[in-house]
Amino acid sequence: MMAVNVDAEYLKEIEKTRRDLRALISSRNCAPIMLRLAWHDAGTYDAKKKTGGPNGSIRFNDELNRPHNKGLEKAVAFCEEVKAKHPRVSYADLYQLAGVVAVEVTGGPTIQFTPGRKDAESPDEGDLPDPNQGASHLRTLFSRMGLTDRDIVALSGGHTLGRAHKERSDFEGPWTRDPLKFDNSYFIELLNGETPELLQLKTDKALLGDTKFEPYVKMYAKDEDVFFRDYAISHKKLSELGFNPP
Ligand code: HEM
Repeated sequence: MMAVNVDAEYLKEIEKTRRDLRALISSRNCAPIMLRLAWHDAGTYDAKKKTGGPNGSIRFNDELNRPHNKGLEKAVAFCEEVKAKHPRVSYADLYQLAGVVAVEVTGGPTIQFTPGRKDAESPDEGDLPDPNQGASHLRTLFSRMGLTDRDIVALSGGHTLGRAHKERSDFEGPWTRDPLKFDNSYFIELLNGETPELLQLKTDKALLGDTKFEPYVKMYAKDEDVFFRDYAISHKKLSELGFNPP
């Protein structure tokens, strides 16, 4: 594991990296896939075994080639352009900063970012959620990461951005009518029910009808400020799984 010495020079590099990510993400309209990269790098975390987490390991082929990561090589390549200019910044920090910037540039909440994550090897395990399963599967996977019911619902709101691609996941289409705008429309569409134009995975629909999940869906659909507040808290938590800031 490469230690990260967060000195004044490193903090300066983080700010320059943030600016370069902003420019790259805006000019290529790639916020959705950058958010997905950050989520999939962090989401391997196992709170009991203390393995995985936001450690930059998704760039290694054995992890990148796992079926649930299909398509993310594009986001890894975008980040590589920024890494070339700021080699001191760890991949782990770079990918999480990309996720934070992706949410900000599309109009979402500001997410507090603390640098200093170390890069590590890919964990052997660390499955991401299976889109064909239901509420109990979501709970099993997210609690393995150390995340709660409220985190599950708030973070699922990340599907306000982007779309599924047949050639990547076998699903097709966006969840919302403006997939480059971060807002609470994911929850509004979920409550509106299925339409031919918009996608709802089984795991999205599982947030309805579950007595613990559903009240959050309704609250976030009704009040975007509450969604933004909770999303920022849960995203920060996701971005820091297993990371104890230096
Ligand atoms: C895309 C599943 C949670 C952010 C996708 C896709 C699937 C999926 C199947 C389509 C991939 C493709 O075909 O390109 C799931 C499941 C989740 C989950 C089962 C369990 C709750 C999350 C979370 C976030 C997130 C927590 C972020 C906070 C995204 C984004 C995209 C996406 C932004 C769009 C990527 C693009 O446009 O290229 N997800 N996801 N997802 N996911 Fe999730």
